Amino acid sequence: MSRSASGAAWRKPLAITLQVCVHLGALLPLLWLFVAINQGRLGGDPVKELIHYLGMGTIRLLLLTLLVSPLAKSLHFGQLNRLRRPLGLWCFAWATLHFSAWLALDLGLDWSLIGGELVKRTYILLGFSAWLILLALAITSLPALLRKMGRNWKKLHGLLYIVVLLACWHFWWSVKSGWIEPAIYFAIALALLLWRRASISRWITSLRR
Ligand code: HEM
Repeated sequence: MSRSASGAAWRKPLAITLQVCVHLGALLPLLWLFVAINQGRLGGDPVKELIHYLGMGTIRLLLLTLLVSPLAKSLHFGQLNRLRRPLGLWCFAWATLHFSAWLALDLGLDWSLIGGELVKRTYILLGFSAWLILLALAITSLPALLRKMGRNWKKLHGLLYIVVLLACWHFWWSVKSGWIEPAIYFAIALALLLWRRASISRWITSLRR
């Protein structure tokens, strides 16, 4: 067997193993959270801690999703792109849990209060806008829709760049004290966007057309 053929041989199993790691890495912290809630281990303000935990998980999954394509290209490891879909869908699931915890536990599903918060607090509006885009991306990830949308699918999924900026901005404005952590996430996001600048400019050109 040639060297390149044997090199390619381990790539597929590695990509599948990484896919399993993505599922476990996204699911196990949720199981831990479930146990921690049941055992009352979320501290003095469990609702705040829950929203914090789910928000941090969402932003990490978002950044990981953005990392996949440039990494696959740099490593000449196309199979790595298989991780994009599960990471994106898990990111949406975590964002939905984060959003739902706020709706149900913080505001008690009081719709007038929810409407008021959306209008009054810009960081909530930013998070909500990011979630709405993630919802559209998750729905259009269904294989049947993906095929039907053709080129428009890529155009729509370029909105992930906007989601990352909205999410970092939302994080920045949501914290009441200490700016270092959100600044680090913002810097990572900007570095990833810079790394993907060629794809971003292609996306902008396709939108103009
Ligand atoms: C892509 C979507 C989103 C991401 C990545 C995200 C991420 C985050 C992060 C990292 C935090 C900071 C956690 C902390 O330090 O406590 C946070 C806080 C928060 N987020 Fe989100 N979020 C998203 C969407 C939303 C949505 C849709 C809502 C509700 C409409 C929301 C409501 C909140 C609230 C209420 C806080 C807590 C602020 C506080 O400490 O008082 N988020 N989010």
